[in-house]
Amino acid sequence: MELKDINADLTKILVTQEEIHVRIEEIAREVERDYAGQDLLLIGVLKGAVMVMADFSRALLKHVTMDWMAVSSYGDSTRSSGVVRILKDLDTDIAGKNVLIVEDIIDTGLTLSWLSENLKSRNPASLAIFSLFRKPEMLKVECEVRYVGFDIANEFIVGYGLDYAEEYRNIKGVGVLDPHVYAPKS
Ligand code: PRP
Repeated sequence: MELKDINADLTKILVTQEEIHVRIEEIAREVERDYAGQDLLLIGVLKGAVMVMADFSRALLKHVTMDWMAVSSYGDSTRSSGVVRILKDLDTDIAGKNVLIVEDIIDTGLTLSWLSENLKSRNPASLAIFSLFRKPEMLKVECEVRYVGFDIANEFIVGYGLDYAEEYRNIKGVGVLDPHVYAPKS
């Protein structure tokens, strides 16, 4: 049987796995400085943030704890509506803790702005956001992000946790998906 390489559906690699790892190490050093002598709880937002959480947490040379949330935005599969539903809540009480949300991407900013407000209402000692990618031209709401890996153009990217129809998350780097994959054939 022919082995189909998932990378063949990309038109280009935007950021390689190596570039991601270098940037994650830089941010890890920043975070270590900013939280020196303090506790830190990393909250990963499922499912996209799994890869960044796995690499970022291991880049940190300090004690951290980890928890996970799964949220889903109402609306169609490609556009956030800003109305968010919690599919899986945290296991822990974050009151009095320093919380760092770990995300793969900020697109419109609607998911994270909702999530920030939700988590703030649980009275953490502090709350900050780390997103590996951000699409500045897509932002619809003000969303204060303390750590950003890469600002990127508005292209249809997949890989390193980012999906199209739940696939392509397991590509090592991040690449642009060939339109033939999602555009209807004419
Ligand atoms: C992605 C991403 C963010 C959100 C960003 O998640 O992980 O949570 O979309 O979009 P926004 O800034 O426009 O709100 P998605 O809903 O695709 O779920 P997933 O993490 O399971 O892929």
